[in-house]
Amino acid sequence: MFDTMTVTKAGGALCGSLLVFLLGSWAASALYTTGGAKHGADELVQGYKIDTGADEPAEAAEEGPAFADLYAAADPAAGEKVFAKCRACHKLDGSNGTGPHLDGVVDRLKASVGGFNYSDALKGMSAEPWSPENLDKFLASPKGYAPGNKMSFAGLPKAEERANLIKYLSTVTGG
Ligand code: HEC
Repeated sequence: MFDTMTVTKAGGALCGSLLVFLLGSWAASALYTTGGAKHGADELVQGYKIDTGADEPAEAAEEGPAFADLYAAADPAAGEKVFAKCRACHKLDGSNGTGPHLDGVVDRLKASVGGFNYSDALKGMSAEPWSPENLDKFLASPKGYAPGNKMSFAGLPKAEERANLIKYLSTVTGG
């Protein structure tokens, strides 16, 4: 029959394999649970993505009329008032102040006023003119349009104000 040693060994082996089994299933369930949680998170993120997608067309609509339309309907008299925000630095009589003179700036080449010490940022753009469209983008965000330029002005957030101002500047051609 079985002696004590055989029984002990058999019992030990049984306990050992039970332990391995328990550890194994614990590890497996831990992995499985983690995977499940990640999956859940993915689903949540996707839920947000769908929401954002639904908002996008509305945001695009909020941008309002195109610059060309605003410019066509722009009011230079209203733009002259907006120029009050520029007057501290820009003159319209052909002389430079903190900034270069702005008479004749519309369709003038960028960074082209003689005797004004432009930043490298603007000098690097001097092959292009200040078209009304370019002025619109620059005045919306001077730092965003010409990173590194030295005009300390945050920008004109209102598209209509920019269009009116550029229209006014287009009427100021000489000083
Ligand atoms: C605090 C002073 C300051 C204010 C306010 C300011 N500017 Fe300027 N502006 C500058 C300086 C300085 C430069 C030259 C920037 C450079 O060289 O990087 C400049 C450059 C420009 C240029 C480029 C001109 C060229 O010859 O290439 C335009 C256009 C311009 N400003 C328009 C405006 C308008 C329009 C406003 C008002 C809405 C305005 N700025 C407000 C200081 C100012």
